[in-house]
Amino acid sequence: MKIPWYHKTTIYQIYPRSFYDSNQDGIGEIKGILSKLNYLHELGFETLWISPFFSSPQTDFGYDICNYTDIAPEYGSMDDALQLIDEVHKRGMKIVFDMVMNHTSIEHEWFKESRSSRDNSKADWYLWQNSPLPFLREKLGLKVPPNNWKSMTGGNGWHYAKERDEYYWSSFLPFQPDLNYRNPEVKKAIFEIVRFWLRKGVDGFRLDIFNVIYKDAEYRNNPFSPKLIPTEEDPSGFFQEAKYTMNQPESFSFAKELRNVCNEFGEKILLGEITGNTEIIKKYMTKKGDGLGLVFNFEMLNFKFNADYFRELINKIERDFPDPFMPVYVFSNHDRRRSIHRIGEDFRKAKLLHLLQLTVRGVPAMYYGEEIGMTDSKFPFSSALDPIPHKFKWVPRVLLDSIGLTINRDEVRTPMQWDESRNSGFSSAQKTWLPVHENFKAVNIETETKDANSLLNTIRKLLKIRTEESALREGSLDLIGNLPKDVLGYKRKSGSNELVVLLNFGMKDTDFETEKGDCIFRITEKDEIKNNKVELTGYGGIILKFPN
Ligand code: GLC
Repeated sequence: MKIPWYHKTTIYQIYPRSFYDSNQDGIGEIKGILSKLNYLHELGFETLWISPFFSSPQTDFGYDICNYTDIAPEYGSMDDALQLIDEVHKRGMKIVFDMVMNHTSIEHEWFKESRSSRDNSKADWYLWQNSPLPFLREKLGLKVPPNNWKSMTGGNGWHYAKERDEYYWSSFLPFQPDLNYRNPEVKKAIFEIVRFWLRKGVDGFRLDIFNVIYKDAEYRNNPFSPKLIPTEEDPSGFFQEAKYTMNQPESFSFAKELRNVCNEFGEKILLGEITGNTEIIKKYMTKKGDGLGLVFNFEMLNFKFNADYFRELINKIERDFPDPFMPVYVFSNHDRRRSIHRIGEDFRKAKLLHLLQLTVRGVPAMYYGEEIGMTDSKFPFSSALDPIPHKFKWVPRVLLDSIGLTINRDEVRTPMQWDESRNSGFSSAQKTWLPVHENFKAVNIETETKDANSLLNTIRKLLKIRTEESALREGSLDLIGNLPKDVLGYKRKSGSNELVVLLNFGMKDTDFETEKGDCIFRITEKDEIKNNKVELTGYGGIILKFPN
């Protein structure tokens, strides 16, 4: 089977609001991205995924769309969007838009109409249900939701609308009502939007909370579960199993329908945001590749920095997602703590982590600023712009931190750190939408560009090697046994192109015997191979190439 381009690519996520502000209003926009495309191109990423910049009240910063084919004025115009597509393509790169199909904003005209009465032309475009006990409200003013379903953010996901005297369902937050995909008109309208952007030249989509796109047709109650906190592998939580609210069989077939729509335009990337176990993820991806084809492997967002963890992870991924499946290695995004937070902000460890991410069998997806080791800020919940922390104000912060939850997503969305100047060169406005992290004088692109051994230059080198060595893009992976305890090693092979990657997760230097190869990459000068002996510094790593 021919390998699709999106199984061989490298992905860089841009959060437009925080990337670069070219018009001094304190928020980034499309023109800002345009002016920084050369940076991304030279860095070496091949595919850019841009978080939503469509028309939106921005209550969830673009993940609440009120017009899918219009650009939010603060981010620019349709011309800017088209120019972005064009300029990305001119550089030989690909561009991926963020499709939030599960829900719209309550400000969307569709919802306004749907909400206005029970018998308008869009009455059935969203999930409307009545209370099972309407008399309780009539007689006692008590609001009893249609069933026991909990939203993904916790609590009741049904919201009462007096205009219809009914409740609408929202999987995420109350201002994000879910569309009704059992209504063929909705499906048609969304597919037309997909076609609209494909016609304009986008290379595909990242699919927001795709696992909740269908809900049970009969609205059956979810069963009880002892689980409080949803996890990547098992999205059940808040004491209920998400049996009827997530990963419904119709969602798997919907992935195929969407693939068919995209196929009208060639080979397009569909990258799913899915929580669920391996079996479920594979149902969306499909072995034949006629579903989404790519799904983030989110379990690794909670990685532990040691060789055993990654050995097991790779083992599991290789067993569960063998060729022709392709995993996605992702350690950070706009919803979760940045990867460097998990490694005590240690840049040596960050280099090793990204050596792994860029050489293992999988598509790497990096979040803006991860390439320079941008760190999370700490902001009080009370002044958060992100709506989620307001929901959890009553929970002690230490508790949330101790269980590793990222509640205030503002903290991972601070402006990109370009240089040492005011606002780190992100904006010349008096005030930026979120404050720039205070460490910007040390952690920024300009400074790291000048330092040959910086994290940024390490990543740049690795991205270049990836383009030169087909084994890294499309080769098989075999873990190497009998290495020192803290060392992880694997072989990548494609035809006669054969490489070995050796990573020392220990803090102490180590050495061991290996096959003799040429060193084509090393984290530090002291990571080397002499005859058959490899010497790795603490957190050092090396790539060896074998003559064919
Ligand atoms: C996804 C997005 C997140 C957004 C949510 C609702 O999880 O990544 O940022 O808030 O969906 O659209």
